[in-house]
Amino acid sequence: MINVKGLKKSFKDVEALKDVSFNVNQGEILGLLGENGAGKTTTLRILATMLKADDGEVVLGGINVANNPEAVRKKIGILFGGESGIYDRLTARENIEYYGQLNDMDSASIKDRVDHLSRIFEMDEYIDRRAGKFSKGMKQKVALARSIVHNPEIMLFDEPTSGLDVTAARVVHKFINSCKEEGKTVVFSSHTMSEVEKLCDRVAIIHKGKIIEIGTITELTDKYQKSVEELFVELVGE
Ligand SMILES: Nc1ncnc2c1ncn2[C@@H]1O[C@H](COP(=O)(O)OP(=O)(O)O)[C@@H](O)[C@H]1O
Ligand SMILES: [Mg+2]
Repeated sequence: MINVKGLKKSFKDVEALKDVSFNVNQGEILGLLGENGAGKTTTLRILATMLKADDGEVVLGGINVANNPEAVRKKIGILFGGESGIYDRLTARENIEYYGQLNDMDSASIKDRVDHLSRIFEMDEYIDRRAGKFSKGMKQKVALARSIVHNPEIMLFDEPTSGLDVTAARVVHKFINSCKEEGKTVVFSSHTMSEVEKLCDRVAIIHKGKIIEIGTITELTDKYQKSVEELFVELVGE
């Protein structure tokens, strides 16, 4: 479903990505694990068509990102960073509807979809209230619902739990698991080992712009005879 081959990206003299390659199968959750500055956000921005690679290739759902970014955008749901970017003056419903409009959905489908999302995210109580006074967890639910209003096949989440408290982080974890149940393909980045271990089918360890290891948790722990945490420390080093 996702094929990434030989990505390179530099910002002036900073080589953010030197060689990033990986594949993700349909219905799979891949965790991109790496410390700060490893290249997680840059990788996800390229996959999300927000940034052009200097070299390499990304194919999402059979479509080459460089050739047809518009078509790719219809297939993907994106959530970046801990900052939800919810408009305080709009209601939860209006926030989600707005994204539906941006994704060229007609108003009837938007309405159906918002009702559905409000139900599954248990937002019915506050769906028509302005988002300004929402808790972080409530805002995060709106942000998640908004990112999938167009029912994309592929989700790209950059550190979706960073800056969230335990309850709000749990909402995100539950959501990622429900994506899997629906057969969606998910790539999310994290610097938290336990989160990756809990949610992912496979983990890719990224370090200084390169994927240095990829596999299921069992494959990696068998190969190195170490816990993922010890392995991460060993591979990434000090
Ligand atoms: N817009 C940018 N301009 C200059 N340098 C950048 C930019 N974005 C990222 N970088 C650099 O590229 C490297 C990788 O960054 P990033 O992909 O954000 O890593 P991560 O998300 O894993 O923390 C870092 O050295 C970072 O400082
Ligand atoms: Mg980042």
